[in-house]
Amino acid sequence: MLAYRIGYGEDAHRLEAGRDLWLGGLKIPDALHGAVAHSDGDAVLHALADALLSGLALGDIGQYFPDNDPANAGLDSATILRRCLELVRGRGYAPLNVALVVTLDRPKLGGLRPDIAASVAELLTLDRAEVGVSFKTSEGLATGHVQVRATVLLGRADG
Ligand code: C5P
Ligand code: MG
Repeated sequence: MLAYRIGYGEDAHRLEAGRDLWLGGLKIPDALHGAVAHSDGDAVLHALADALLSGLALGDIGQYFPDNDPANAGLDSATILRRCLELVRGRGYAPLNVALVVTLDRPKLGGLRPDIAASVAELLTLDRAEVGVSFKTSEGLATGHVQVRATVLLGRADG
C-alpha cells in the first residue's frame, strides 16, 4: 500500500440566469446566474468527489451516482462527497490537503475564499488551512460556465 496518493478531478457546469450558484457547499450571494444541473450543480464538490475517487483509482462519480438513475435526481452534492469520503476511508486512506481552482468570470469570489475553504474543510473534516482555493477568470472566453479543478493528497489513515 502506498503511503500517499494524489487524486485529481474536474467539473464544469453551464450557467443560466435565475439559478442559484453553489460552490463548495456554499450558496454564492448575489450570483447573476447558477449552474444548470440535476441537483445543486456544485462543481467544487463534484470535482472534489472525483479527485477522492481518482486518488484510489476507484473510477468516477458517474459510476456510483449515474445521472440517469431517478434515485440520484436532486442528490445533494455534499452527500455525494461524503459517500466518496467513506469509500476512501474504507480503503484505509484519508485526505490530507486539497487544492482547488475555480474558473468563473463573475462574480469575483476573493472575498468568499475563507468561507468556501471553511465549508470544504468541514465536509472533509480537515483544517481550513489544508484547503487551498484559487480563483481565475476565463478572460471572457467562457462567460457562460463555471469550471473547477481539484487535487487532493491522500495519506494512509494509520500512517
Ligand atoms: O483570471 P485572472 O488571472 O485575470 O484573475 C485575476 C484575479 O482575480 C485572480 O487571481 C483572483 O484573485 C481574482 N478572481 C476572483 N474571482 C473570480 C475570478 C478571479 O476573485 N471569479
Ligand atoms: Mg490572468
